[in-house]
Amino acid sequence: MSGINYSEKIPNNVNLSDDRTLQRALEQWQPNFINWWDDVGPEGSTDMDVYLRTAVSVDPQGWAQFGHVKMRDYRWGIFLNPGDAERTIHFGDHKGEKAWQDVPGEHRANLRRIIVTQGDTEPASVEQQRHLGLTAPSMYDLRNLFQINVEEGRHLWAMVYLLHKHFGRDGREEADALLERRSGDQNNPRILGAFNEATPDWLSFFMFTYFTDRDGKYQLCALAESAFDPLARTTKFMLTEEAHHMFVGESGISRIISRTAQKMNELKTDDVGKLRAAGVIDLPTIQRYINFHFSVTIDLFGSDESSNAAIFYSSGLKGRYEEGKRLDDHVLKGQTYKVLESRGGQLVDKEVPMLNALNEVLRDDYIKDSVAGVERWNRVLDKAGIPVKLKVPHKAFHRNIGALSGIKVSPDGRVLSEAEWQARVNEWLPTGDDRAYVASLMGRVVEPGKFANWIAPPVMGINRQPADFDYVRFN
Ligand SMILES: [Fe+2]
Ligand SMILES: [Fe+2]
Repeated sequence: MSGINYSEKIPNNVNLSDDRTLQRALEQWQPNFINWWDDVGPEGSTDMDVYLRTAVSVDPQGWAQFGHVKMRDYRWGIFLNPGDAERTIHFGDHKGEKAWQDVPGEHRANLRRIIVTQGDTEPASVEQQRHLGLTAPSMYDLRNLFQINVEEGRHLWAMVYLLHKHFGRDGREEADALLERRSGDQNNPRILGAFNEATPDWLSFFMFTYFTDRDGKYQLCALAESAFDPLARTTKFMLTEEAHHMFVGESGISRIISRTAQKMNELKTDDVGKLRAAGVIDLPTIQRYINFHFSVTIDLFGSDESSNAAIFYSSGLKGRYEEGKRLDDHVLKGQTYKVLESRGGQLVDKEVPMLNALNEVLRDDYIKDSVAGVERWNRVLDKAGIPVKLKVPHKAFHRNIGALSGIKVSPDGRVLSEAEWQARVNEWLPTGDDRAYVASLMGRVVEPGKFANWIAPPVMGINRQPADFDYVRFN
């Protein structure tokens, strides 16, 4: 059963009509969700018809249908990947036991916390991105922004379903609170730091979708291993949507680099002033944005040593990335892992129990994956004959969480004094001047087939549509 029932008020493949109590609870939550969307969703978008894909089945292939819709009328719904009644738990202390269809009492508080923390990031990113539509570099990009926004909205639905279905009254209260917190709000902020940062311009947006949506991928992959089967199945389906978000980020940055490289060759210069005068984003600025977004995002994985991470793993709540493909015992007792610490002005490895280092394990998997995309950006420069390499900074650079948060480290991994850091930080992180320059480029370009000066057109349109397709109708 992979098709989705669209005849119901809340499209779903979880037989919602058989569970009247749950259906009523969700139908009560729905108007509050729409109010939230109207309030802090994409600004000024109410009347637009947007060429969006909507999930119509949960088959890995061909689940999406494209058409122009108003975002408010998007068919937000509840979709789980098909289940396997015989599924067993494949890691931790419960390894070999049957996967749970309900929440075991002893893991209830931790599971709720995990689901709420994941759920909170989804509306947060919509809030962070709400003004970007006003300065879209093209209609194609505007459409991609909106696609991401509606899917993050659906990811919120996915987590709210679990809270309502499995956590009783606390779950309902948590679901309400997810619509009350606001990104960047002093009094009632979103839970995680990176989700309270502004996403003020499209360079930040593409960096965010490349780096921070990828954090989402790794968290979802870890939850897709969960012994709590409804969570595993929900997150598996969310991952199919997440892939597009990272594509938007990777291809967006790639197009910016491509345009910059073209200007560098045309003007035969790497002079920042000349390139800015020509209206493109210079590579040092791009590098500083990479440094910022990478460092803020790797903090999201949490402390390098964490007893909570050990508990979440051993009790089967959260696995490792691709747990099933690993060849160890999947219990990890007595095993160790290397984390970094600063000793006498040097970064040195420290062996710690692996169970306590699982945040670091996930962070390291994430880092490998992020580096790969940066290498693909470098190929754009390489092809253009420009001998510059972009890099992700050292993982100890600009950290605010964990053992490395107390020290200052350069992007190439040298421990610095406070004075050295202060003297050079403007080379490494976006300056007020960089941000003002990038902001000055942001203007609205939305005629079909037109692109802002600072970004190259995409190689291909969405769903094989031409570049000048009318992805958004303004009405
Ligand atoms: Fe998401
Ligand atoms: Fe996402």
